[in-house]
Amino acid sequence: MAGNTVHNQTLWWQQGVIYQIYPRSFQDTNGDGIGDLAGIIDHLDYLTWLGVDAIWLSPVYPSPMVDFGYDIANFTDIDPLFGDLATIDKLVQQAHQRNLKVIMDYVPNHTSDQHPWFLESRASRTNPKRDWYVWKDARPDGSPPNNWLGSWGGSAWEWDATTHQYYLHSYHKTMPDLNWRNPAVKEAMFDVVRFWLDRGVDGLRIDSAQRIMKDPQFRDNPPNPDPKARANVYKSLGDYDLQLHIHDRAHPDIHAVYRELRQLLDAYSVQSPRVALGEIHIFDWPLWATYYGTQLDELHMPLNFGLVGTPWKASAVRQVVDAVEAALLPGAWPNYVLSNHDEPRVATRIGPKQARVAIMLLLTLRGTPTLYYSDEIGMHDVEIPPDRILDPWEKSRPGLGLGRDPERTPMQWDATPNAGFCPPSIEPWLPIANDYKQVNVAAQRANPRSMLSLTHALLKIRHASPALSIGTYASIPDVPDDCFVYLRQFNEQSYLIALNFSSKEQQIRLLEMGTGRIRLSTHLDRKGMVDLGSFGLREDEGCVVEMGEMVP
Ligand code: GLC
Ligand code: CA
Repeated sequence: MAGNTVHNQTLWWQQGVIYQIYPRSFQDTNGDGIGDLAGIIDHLDYLTWLGVDAIWLSPVYPSPMVDFGYDIANFTDIDPLFGDLATIDKLVQQAHQRNLKVIMDYVPNHTSDQHPWFLESRASRTNPKRDWYVWKDARPDGSPPNNWLGSWGGSAWEWDATTHQYYLHSYHKTMPDLNWRNPAVKEAMFDVVRFWLDRGVDGLRIDSAQRIMKDPQFRDNPPNPDPKARANVYKSLGDYDLQLHIHDRAHPDIHAVYRELRQLLDAYSVQSPRVALGEIHIFDWPLWATYYGTQLDELHMPLNFGLVGTPWKASAVRQVVDAVEAALLPGAWPNYVLSNHDEPRVATRIGPKQARVAIMLLLTLRGTPTLYYSDEIGMHDVEIPPDRILDPWEKSRPGLGLGRDPERTPMQWDATPNAGFCPPSIEPWLPIANDYKQVNVAAQRANPRSMLSLTHALLKIRHASPALSIGTYASIPDVPDDCFVYLRQFNEQSYLIALNFSSKEQQIRLLEMGTGRIRLSTHLDRKGMVDLGSFGLREDEGCVVEMGEMVP
């Protein structure tokens, strides 16, 4: 199968598992109810024990925190809420000592309106930084220059009453879009990359990676003839879904930018391999795959949201995985995301029982998994009382279920008040789930059948078995509709992964496959030989089965 060749030399970001940390919610150490870098350092031993290979930090830069750090006022410093440059240096160094890589969020599409670049840019039409952002005259009737919409509602253009022009913002009006067609912007933003790579950071997760290049003629987006085929497959975005977003994002010129960025990273990779992941929300897999570059010379991995955006049905998920595999050019490395800070947690999306099946899927597919903090203990989303809603998206479009606070609540470490996230007397920035006394790291570490024990066991077997990390992938036909079964192989080693997506028992009949040995069940209660000619999966059960050498 195309893209399924095993390479002798695989790099850390291909073999490894990435763990996403939302820093505000991981561990507070100074008692302000907000997680910080020192809190991450405190848990590096936990992450090593868990068995992940890299951490990706959502933004920790100085920010007015309108979008909780994605609105950046200085790309090359740390917000005092989180620490300072010395703390991030310490984090990188201590992570590296434990063989953990560090990936930073890199937000090229926009800045905060408090960024000095924007303050200058908006100061006057003749300011040297005017063209660092996207400014346009009003139409003759005073209305915005075109019909582009912000993702969170309303026009993407904001009127500046002082200089009498509109500026563009793909998201919140306090987050103006940078003008990447200006070479000075590109240079300044590449300097930001150099700044972090020089500090020893191992990679970047590029935020809103599709957005940095727009139509240079600023043409109107056409109407969407089929609003159900919407921009974000998970959520209805209201007005935003009524347009086809062909001019306000993903202009083909974007590829040249990523080719250049890749060259920058490649130059650093001589020292130690660096990686660029990009947030690419495309579900047309051949189109998505173009972000690897036709010569594999762009992003190392456009993030793949296929598992997040697909209804939780075995056949649908299998189709996505097969389509992704088929779309990859030889040598392009797949990756899978199960949850993140923008989407409901997996336990909420598909229920706690299937969350165990999902984590087995995530950690046994070919390609690099991204594991969202809290999914390893099966935390669910937390309902946020109206007076504690913080997410600007929820605030701009109230009541549509778009808010992301529920999936950003604090990590539950133990059964003490505030779940060990912050001191008992302090109100954490977002509320903690009611069931934290049961659902927490300490309790689950002590329970050999917990979700955490399952995650830990999966990471352990993945590390010990090249077949599961870098081996080939092939899905197995002729299995029950509610099951997804696939084979992972590397040299003589091969594993069959059989996942039951239903709450009914299923029989797998793979007569020609002989016997295998169960290495892991999601129920964590059985091991030993099975006959694959008649292999029963219990409700909500997934199994990793090690095969003999006789597999066809
Ligand atoms: C990305 C981030 C999201 C943020 C937005 C604007 O989609 O993942 O959290 O709000 O970009 O930066
Ligand atoms: Ca703190």
